[in-house]
Amino acid sequence: MTEMTNLSNEPSLETLHEWDRVHQLHPWAAMDDWRGYDNMMVDTAEGIYMWDASGKKFIDGPAGMWCTQIGYGRKDMADAIAAQVMKLPYTSPFSNATEPSAVLAKKIADMAPGDLNNVFFTTGGSTAVDTALRTMMYYFNRRGMPEKKMILAREKGYHGSTYLAHSVTGKERDKSHFDHASHMVHFLPDVNPYRRAEGQSVEAFCDEKVADLENAIATIGADKIGAFIAEPVLSSGGVIVPAPGYHKRTWEVCKANDILYISDEVVTGFGRLGHWFASEDLFDIVPDMITCAKGLTSGYLPLGACIIADHVLEAISNLGEPSSYTNGYTYSGHPVCCVAALKNIEIFESEGILEHVREVSPHFQKRLKALEKFDIVGDARGMGLLGCIEGKAEDLEAERTLGAKIDEACEARGLIVRPLINMAVFSPPLIITLEQIDEMFDIIEDALAEVQKDVNG
Ligand SMILES: Cc1ncc(COP(=O)(O)O)c(C=O)c1O
Repeated sequence: MTEMTNLSNEPSLETLHEWDRVHQLHPWAAMDDWRGYDNMMVDTAEGIYMWDASGKKFIDGPAGMWCTQIGYGRKDMADAIAAQVMKLPYTSPFSNATEPSAVLAKKIADMAPGDLNNVFFTTGGSTAVDTALRTMMYYFNRRGMPEKKMILAREKGYHGSTYLAHSVTGKERDKSHFDHASHMVHFLPDVNPYRRAEGQSVEAFCDEKVADLENAIATIGADKIGAFIAEPVLSSGGVIVPAPGYHKRTWEVCKANDILYISDEVVTGFGRLGHWFASEDLFDIVPDMITCAKGLTSGYLPLGACIIADHVLEAISNLGEPSSYTNGYTYSGHPVCCVAALKNIEIFESEGILEHVREVSPHFQKRLKALEKFDIVGDARGMGLLGCIEGKAEDLEAERTLGAKIDEACEARGLIVRPLINMAVFSPPLIITLEQIDEMFDIIEDALAEVQKDVNG
């Protein structure tokens, strides 16, 4: 406890930074230095732009954390949220239903592919993934197959930070010193075509990645494996778009082995790739479960969902012995968050945001690919309004330095990018116009030219 502070006196920026440093532990804080640096104090935002507390303007390149799809400052969203707060801010989802959560569940079921008709609301992406994995365990327990629980996940995949969601996350540098349920997870090797062997075709690389899955099943045994979890495009792992055909073939392998396929669409869902969901529309698969969050409310309020197929729930319902689905949260189906999601979907529909993404994405991807002209860029890749450049350097230390330099040079020019070691990620709000895409890439080109000059001496 510290002494009571009078919050009615507006604290100075310096004071705010001090309180933040001293009292707030941020996600992924560097524990050897966490009181030694200040995060940017973000003050306001409008459209695709945000301003820091000193008044400097930035393009929000990552759209918050791949989530502010409809952009900032939407009064219609604020009004909808305020109205629901006054009408009914909360009721228990354990015993009651509400109009916003019922309407939203129906809407999501209509958008989702195949027989994915059952929506379980969560508080975000991690809890959606946790729910999917726990549902898999419940499913095989109820089917009398308690040994069938192992989870196949992939190197470089990111699925969140509950115990289970973090356990299936395959980003090596995120493993740190937390414990994980390692005995329950098997990781398949990197699916990044950029990392394929010299001289290997993308088709042969795809064969190899499918074989990785088949070999894991042969070694562990299909009777021991409950689920395969995969992002359609691995996002935090560096915007990795797997080889054409990879998803369809791995999904077929899972089906043939009674392994539940969980498609983690926390980033790719809600318009990032120009569709409500990418699984079926872009990759021709109908998963057993889909997880989503982020773009579901455009980040205005926290909400996630695990969408479960009818055939999964039917197999474990009405089995003649009492059993409850003991999974859930105080804030499952929160009415105010559901209203935010409904307003978000309404804005998508009335403003044609999915169509807009499909229209501007080719230009975005063309400008992204053109960044490969810089020697320091090893690869520029992406899909939809999702992109990443991977910097080329000799070793990890040099890669870190390069990534930090690109980040700083962009920030100095008024563009936020999401640095991931030697990579910089771009996933702007989906309302970005063609002119704003050019504004963003002009800044990146200018920043890369400066960093290249600096690196090459
Ligand atoms: C693919 C994916 N799954 C799950 C999560 C976890 O979501 P949340 O941070 O909302 O818990 C993330 C977050 O970035 C993600 O990218």
